[in-house]
Amino acid sequence: MEDISVLISEEELNKRIRNLGEEISADYAGKEIHLIGILKGSVIFMAELAKRITVPVTFDFMSVSSYGDDTVSSGIVKIIKDLDDSISGRDVLIVEDIVDTGRTLEYLMSMLRTRDPKSLKLCALLDKPERRLCKVQPDYCGFTVPDEFIVGYGLDYAQKYRNLPYIGKVLQG
Ligand code: IMP
Ligand code: MG
Repeated sequence: MEDISVLISEEELNKRIRNLGEEISADYAGKEIHLIGILKGSVIFMAELAKRITVPVTFDFMSVSSYGDDTVSSGIVKIIKDLDDSISGRDVLIVEDIVDTGRTLEYLMSMLRTRDPKSLKLCALLDKPERRLCKVQPDYCGFTVPDEFIVGYGLDYAQKYRNLPYIGKVLQG
């Protein structure tokens, strides 16, 4: 069992996600948003964000692997589960837990663009800009985090800690 210290509390997360929901609802006024959650890390964030969006919303999910159980990016992106529905002509908002090197999102977004969405934007709960290797920039971002290994609120360390109601960092033991 690793030691984890709290970086972002449940209260801060609730408040910021409510604000993001309001901002997104205003930007997409009169439209319908097709939310695409990237499994598994985005699940808790997507559920909380979707509850705060007031325009009509539909859900789809995609599963990609770039890390295995390692904490270092391999840069290899593999589609484990593709979308159920077509995104052609839809206003698509990708929901992701964290943008780290940006490799996963760069690959995914360029792949999804070829499927002809009306618009394609990215909403990430966390941004770790110090580690960026690609030109990916979230259109909506909850918090900027330092170059630490982050867990909780959907993010895992070897598949554990996704259920923590706060964002924490793993203390090296
Ligand atoms: P990227 O392709 O390097 O941007 O990596 C993106 C994916 O790596 C994220 O969707 C996360 O699943 C995972 N990841 C990156 N940094 C962390 C972290 O600090 N904790 C847990 N997962 C992470
Ligand atoms: Mg992920």
